[in-house]
Amino acid sequence: MKTDLPTKKGDKWREILLIFAIFALNISSQKNKGTKMNRREFIISSLMTLGGTTLLSACKEEKQVRVKKGEDKMKVLMVNGSSHEEGCTYTALSEIAKVLKEEGIESEIIQLGPNAYRDCVGCGGCRKLGHCVFTDDIVNELVEKAKSADGFIFGTPVYYAHPSGRLLSVLNRAFYSGGAAFAYKPGAAIASARRAGTIASIDVINKYFTINNMPVISSTYWNEVHGNTPAEVKQDIEGLQTMRNLGKNMAWALKLIEEGKKLGIQTPEPEKGARTNFIR
Ligand SMILES: Cc1cc2nc3c(=O)[nH]c(=O)nc-3n(C[C@H](O)[C@H](O)[C@H](O)COP(=O)(O)O)c2cc1C
Repeated sequence: MKTDLPTKKGDKWREILLIFAIFALNISSQKNKGTKMNRREFIISSLMTLGGTTLLSACKEEKQVRVKKGEDKMKVLMVNGSSHEEGCTYTALSEIAKVLKEEGIESEIIQLGPNAYRDCVGCGGCRKLGHCVFTDDIVNELVEKAKSADGFIFGTPVYYAHPSGRLLSVLNRAFYSGGAAFAYKPGAAIASARRAGTIASIDVINKYFTINNMPVISSTYWNEVHGNTPAEVKQDIEGLQTMRNLGKNMAWALKLIEEGKKLGIQTPEPEKGARTNFIR
């Protein structure tokens, strides 16, 4: 998040007062010790104290800079599961992106386009390699980008009342090979349909979040828009409102997580080990 830290006017005045206090203390301490300093010694002594104060103040500034660096603009990674790069799903994702921008949060839409994507073949190769064995598409790049992203929105057109096969193939491989890149970061699913199947589609996508320690972001209605063309989606006033509210809620969650980190609230350490497959 690139929220510039507010410069507190009070801080400057406190520093000026501190410097005066140091001069005064310097005089009184010398008086108390009964030591007599000539003007030159007094100036050197005061300057040394002042140097120390400046150093302290610089350290404080440095601390703020570090916090700022840690706050490099937050980013939401979106995936458009449609073959239409500027279709209905894109129209909905763009509405969310506008709100995120207003909230100071970057976003990027990864387009899956009309390409073919292999589904996960369960070979387990990613366990050894650390990435999916298929290297000829966007999946490994998506995982790489996910590592530095702060939140995710996966959008899909509805096909026969479920998400697009291409989105599921990509997410199956991305989460199986690189789920840790997404964990503990908020996620939201959105769906675009001419008429029906959005709820089932959203539900399927939410499953990636809920098995991977990811907070699910909601809105004022289920995250859906309706239309067969972008022009029709633009007429879905409530759908777009739902998208904007989703954007606000995503921004809110991201900011809370970021502020929490500054307070020392880290992601929980999950209990591990139990793996029951119901065979007794
Ligand atoms: C193969 C296929 C299946 C579809 N199935 C449904 C469906 O089950 N329910 C529905 O309302 N719309 C269905 N549609 C329409 C699309 O979901 C809808 O037009 C969507 O908004 C398109 O989004 P896009 O422009 O991002 O691709 C289907 C479209 C295609 C191509």
